[in-house]
Amino acid sequence: MKFPSLIAAGVLSALIISCNYSSENKKAELMKAGISKIDWGKVDGKEVYLFTLVNNKGTEVKISNYGGTVTSFITPDKNDKKSEIIIGFDSLNQYLQKPPYFGALIGRYGNRIANAKFTLDGTTYHLAANDGKNTLHGGLKGFDKVVWDATIPNDSVPSLTLKYLSKDGEEGFPGNLDVTVQYTLTDQNELKIEYNAETDKATPVNLTNHTYFNLSGDVNNTILDESLMIDADRYTPVDSSLIPTGKITPVKGTPYDFTSPKKIGKDINEVKGGYDFNWVLNRKDSSLQKVAVLSDPISGRTLEVYTTQPGLQFYTGNFLDGKFVNRDGKPIKQHTALCLETQHFPDSPNEPGFPSTILRPGEKYHSLTVYKIVK
Ligand code: GLA
Repeated sequence: MKFPSLIAAGVLSALIISCNYSSENKKAELMKAGISKIDWGKVDGKEVYLFTLVNNKGTEVKISNYGGTVTSFITPDKNDKKSEIIIGFDSLNQYLQKPPYFGALIGRYGNRIANAKFTLDGTTYHLAANDGKNTLHGGLKGFDKVVWDATIPNDSVPSLTLKYLSKDGEEGFPGNLDVTVQYTLTDQNELKIEYNAETDKATPVNLTNHTYFNLSGDVNNTILDESLMIDADRYTPVDSSLIPTGKITPVKGTPYDFTSPKKIGKDINEVKGGYDFNWVLNRKDSSLQKVAVLSDPISGRTLEVYTTQPGLQFYTGNFLDGKFVNRDGKPIKQHTALCLETQHFPDSPNEPGFPSTILRPGEKYHSLTVYKIVK
């Protein structure tokens, strides 16, 4: 798109956005073409905003600097009807009720660390346990529950830069970890999430995003009829508290085989509770690679997932129990949404056989994940 038309699209979207929010008496401020923000409240004495990114296809993504949370992802379906394809809320207060990580950035360590401890360079570090005796998604106050500093970079496409300094000792982790996450919405309907981090002491780092998708646009439909391909010949089996056993097991001939597109509901009853496992992605190197494809027969939408990461947690919303209600008033029940969390393997700090998650001073953590909607 040429620059003047980008400005026109941005102004138009800002007008639409300010109309949308006028009922809440919140006026959207146009930051630049394709990106606007509203004041959303305050947490820990810090200002929280809700940003709206719009591209030239009319796709709209809302992101808050509270938890770096993606709250809304509206895309056209096969008939060009726009609808919401993720789980999210319209008010900050609902996110303060501790929903299960809807749309949030996850860190310092995404997924589980067994017994809330690990030993690194001869020192044992004790973490906050928040999932029985284990640490899940960074501990009691992970990156999903903090306010990030937000800036709008001077890019030609709408993007948002979020920064957070996780202090030495936070939730038990060693080292001051400087984290930067950049969200970008491209005109190819891609939501790009780029993660960078540096530390001043050796520490495990595993960053991801916990968006729950339901491509049909309606949580009355479960995700069991959506079909999924995961480019992974192996997965990491777990014990009863979802900690990997350390084995890396072939998926061939098991319900975990998604090497060709398969309806999620096909074999799910053979897996207690549903899918909640880490798949070991087939890859030759750490370049950006297409690792999963999710398709919905109702809306005709397809989601492609690209990542530089070695693992993918495919979680079928097993613990969703209707306690939280979607913005359209419908309860968010078991299997009404799913997550495709790009990551390093769970419990890597305690599994010497898994790829290392240790970041040392002077090194740069970098990973990129792209969620692309194709219809
Ligand atoms: C991840 C985990 C699940 C669950 C959800 C949050 O996906 O793997 O076991 O904890 O987060 O409810």
